Amino acid sequence: MLAAAGSLVATIWAVLHPRTLLLAGFTFLLLAGYFKNRRPKNCPPGPWGLPFVGNIFQLDFEQPHLSIQLLVKKYGNIFSLNLGYLTSVVITGLPLIKEVFTHMEQNIMNRPVTLVQERISNKNGLIFSSGQTWKEQRRFALMTLRNFGLGKKSLEQRIREEAHHLVEAIAEEGGQPFDPHFSINNAASNIICSVTFGERFEYHDSRFQEMLRLLDEAMCLQIRIMCQLYNVFPWIMKYVPGSHQTVFRNWEKLKLFVSCMIEDHRRDWNPDEPRDFIDAFLNEMTKYPDKTTSFNEENLVCSTLDLFFAGTETTSHTLRWALLYMALYPEVQEKVQAEIDRVIGKKRPASLADRESMPYTNAVIHEVQRMGNIVPLNVPREVAVDTNLGGFHLTKGTMVLTNLTALHRDPKEWATPDTFNPEHFLENGQFKKRDSFLPFSMGKRACLGEQLARSELFIFFTALMQKFTFKPPINEKLSTKFRNGLTLSPVSHRICAVSRQ
Ligand code: HEM
Ligand SMILES: *[C@@H]1O[C@H](CO)[C@@H](O)[C@H](O)[C@H]1NC(C)=O
Repeated sequence: MLAAAGSLVATIWAVLHPRTLLLAGFTFLLLAGYFKNRRPKNCPPGPWGLPFVGNIFQLDFEQPHLSIQLLVKKYGNIFSLNLGYLTSVVITGLPLIKEVFTHMEQNIMNRPVTLVQERISNKNGLIFSSGQTWKEQRRFALMTLRNFGLGKKSLEQRIREEAHHLVEAIAEEGGQPFDPHFSINNAASNIICSVTFGERFEYHDSRFQEMLRLLDEAMCLQIRIMCQLYNVFPWIMKYVPGSHQTVFRNWEKLKLFVSCMIEDHRRDWNPDEPRDFIDAFLNEMTKYPDKTTSFNEENLVCSTLDLFFAGTETTSHTLRWALLYMALYPEVQEKVQAEIDRVIGKKRPASLADRESMPYTNAVIHEVQRMGNIVPLNVPREVAVDTNLGGFHLTKGTMVLTNLTALHRDPKEWATPDTFNPEHFLENGQFKKRDSFLPFSMGKRACLGEQLARSELFIFFTALMQKFTFKPPINEKLSTKFRNGLTLSPVSHRICAVSRQ
């Protein structure tokens, strides 16, 4: 009996020779993939993709904006890419980008949500929500940011105090080489933390430093191939170990951190005196006990985490780019310092009102953002209803990426597109706005924190330039190479902050 079974297995095995199996499997995949990936009619042109996974192996996820360069050359200002789980369209050039964010914006107000993102936030919160939830959360966040200081004195005052703490921490390095990543990250984060949690964290707070590390790690790992594979094969990847599991674990810990903060707030919450974003949200929740709005526990956690996440690394990366460019362009740094000395002096802390009279410093900050280009392909949008753009048909559900890199490095728009040059933003010694400068994107879904970010950049940068001269360490070369996470940051480096007093 056993022998018979054995020989049956052997016979089946012989028929199902591995090569036969492989061939059958491959044919199946090819056919299934063909039907799944077929491009709709009049869809923007693009490269051929593999079944199921589309073009994901043709892209270098660590430097996506470089590996695609060839495609733009080949297919033009609007081309499509298949990421296996969704079709995306990449848009290049100011005229088309403007069209997308003005006339067309009604149709692309949604955010695409990958399966990785869905598992993290389940379409809750501010950044990855759409429709009614997004409308309510966005309006509420803007209002609350305004009430707790955006555009008001109190937040400016908080930024100034934080800048003071940062200056003190950097002074402790005594001009010796140090890695500015964590103190700057902490300082930048403290501003949004004071809005969301009503408190700042000491630079030596190990629990908070751990949160910043988890965030940084998650952002870096989220663009790697393991997460892309999870988006295509979630039912397999769920059981496979790898960096995607670290991403999920880190976000769980970050959510737990936010939940603990919320519990702390509930304990001594006074509805008549909201202290910060969380208190205001708790108030909002009591207004709608019937749960007909998005003001519920999930959105409280996700919107708070979204503000924390969007408001931390962005400003922190930009500030580190600023110090790096100053160390690389000492003559620019000297001019900034001369302007500070003239307008503010050596002692008084800078205020936002000074920006008007400091065109050079303002131009330098803009140029840092142009060159740093920390969100190279913008944050993706999703087509909500079938739409025409540039003679092509975009179907509902298509992901729209706008190439901000191309805009910020367009040789037709900038005198020296690939070289750091503050003159790009100056005309006859006055600050000059530029249309091709969109680091915060544009339209109704543009960066919610633009005003806050610009205030932070100005006050932090002037405070640091007032007190220190930044220099490369002796015998170490600084480079403008970047590390790609969800945002681009300088590669890990050391720098010297020499006191000017
Ligand atoms: C230099 C710093 C920053 C840059 C370059 C930046 C850039 C961006 C960009 C390009 C978007 C996508 C907009 C779009 O889809 O059109 C965005 C969205 C967003 N940003 Fe910023 N950002 C910065 C700082 C901040 C800060 C400090 C906050 C904190 C409040 C913040 C909060 C947000 C939020 C909540 C969104 C999502 C908006 C929505 O989906 O409605 N950002 N940001
Ligand atoms: C965006 O533009 C830059 C600069 O022209 C180019 O190198 C890059 O490949 C483009 N990326 C995409 C996705 O179109």
